[in-house]
Amino acid sequence: MHNSIIDIEKQALESINKADDSDQLEQLSIKYLGRKGVLTGFLRNISSLPVEERPTAGKDANILKGRLEKVFKNAFLKFESVEDNNYTGIDVTLPGRLTQKGSLHPITQVANEICDIFLRLGFDIAESPEVETDYYNFEALNIPKYHPARDMQDTFYVSENIVLRTHTSPSQPRVMEKTNPPVRIISPGKVFRCDSDVTHTPMFNQVEGLMVDKKISFGDLKGILTTFIHQFFDKQTSLRFRPSFFPFTEPSAEVDIRCVMCKGKGCRICSKTGWLEVLGSGMVHPAVFENVGYDTKKYTGFAFGMGIERLAMLKFGIDDIRKFFENDIRFLRQF
Ligand code: PHE
Repeated sequence: MHNSIIDIEKQALESINKADDSDQLEQLSIKYLGRKGVLTGFLRNISSLPVEERPTAGKDANILKGRLEKVFKNAFLKFESVEDNNYTGIDVTLPGRLTQKGSLHPITQVANEICDIFLRLGFDIAESPEVETDYYNFEALNIPKYHPARDMQDTFYVSENIVLRTHTSPSQPRVMEKTNPPVRIISPGKVFRCDSDVTHTPMFNQVEGLMVDKKISFGDLKGILTTFIHQFFDKQTSLRFRPSFFPFTEPSAEVDIRCVMCKGKGCRICSKTGWLEVLGSGMVHPAVFENVGYDTKKYTGFAFGMGIERLAMLKFGIDDIRKFFENDIRFLRQF
C-alpha cells in the first residue's frame, strides 16, 4: 500500500480508538471521509504523484475508504449502545437537589404561643365548628334576628340558618351547654367575614376565652388579660381597658396596648393615638347564661376574643395582613 495511505490509516484508527463519544467520532468521520476530508484530498492530489504510482494509490485510497466506513459504523454502534445504557436519568456528579425543610406557619406559631400562655393559667382548649348555625353564632349570644348588632359582622351565609362563623364566640354557648361551671376554656380557630383590605382578609383566626365560676369579677378579667399581654408582648407593655359594647357581654371592654411602633408618641400604625386595640372582652351577659341554663344568681364569668393575625402583625411589625396568606417562601422563612 502507498506510504501516505498507510500513515492516514494508522492515524485514523488511532484517533477512532481514542474517541470518547459519538460526537468526537462524528468529527473524525468528517475529518477523514468528508467531502473536504483527508481521503478526498488525497484522491484529488493523485495527479501530482509519479505516473506509475497513480493506479495503486487510487485503489488503495478507495479500499481504505471502504474499510474506514466499516470501522466508523461499528464504533458508532458501540457508542450508541453504551450511551443508551448509560442514560438512566441520574448523573451522580451533579450536585444534589436539596429538599426544602418545612416549618410551622407564623400564624400557627402565634396561636400556639397564645394557647400555651392560657394553658399555663389553667385553661383547657375547646374547639368548635367553622360552619355554624345562626343560633350559636348569633341567637345564643344575645344577637336576635334583625338586631342592628348583626351589621357589625359581614356574615357569609351558607343557607338561611347556616353561616361561616364570624367569630369564635359560638364556642361559649357550645361549651357551656355541655359542661357545668367551673369553666375555663380557650378556643382557637378560623373565622370568616366578607371584608378585604390591608388589615382585613375574608378568613382570619381568633382565640376565644371563657371563664365562669362563682364570684368571678371584672378584676379577674383584668388580671388574666394583663398577665396574658405581659407574657405575650413584654412585662413593660402598658395596657388600658376601654369601655365598649358587645351584645353578649355587659359591661364590655376593649383592651388597648401602648403602640409597639412609636411607644405611645403617635404614628401611622396607631392613627396618632399612641394606643392599639388588641382584644374585645367583657362579663358574660346574663341572657347568654340563661340560654345555656346556667343559674345567673350563682355564677358570673368573663369572655374575651382576639385576632391572631393582628397580634402577630404587632409582635413582628408586619403592616399587611395579606402577607400571611400569600405564602411567599421568603416571607415565611423569617419566622
Ligand atoms: N367576638 C368578638 C369579636 O369578634 C370579641 C369578643 C369575644 C368580645 C368575647 C367580648 C367577648 O369582635
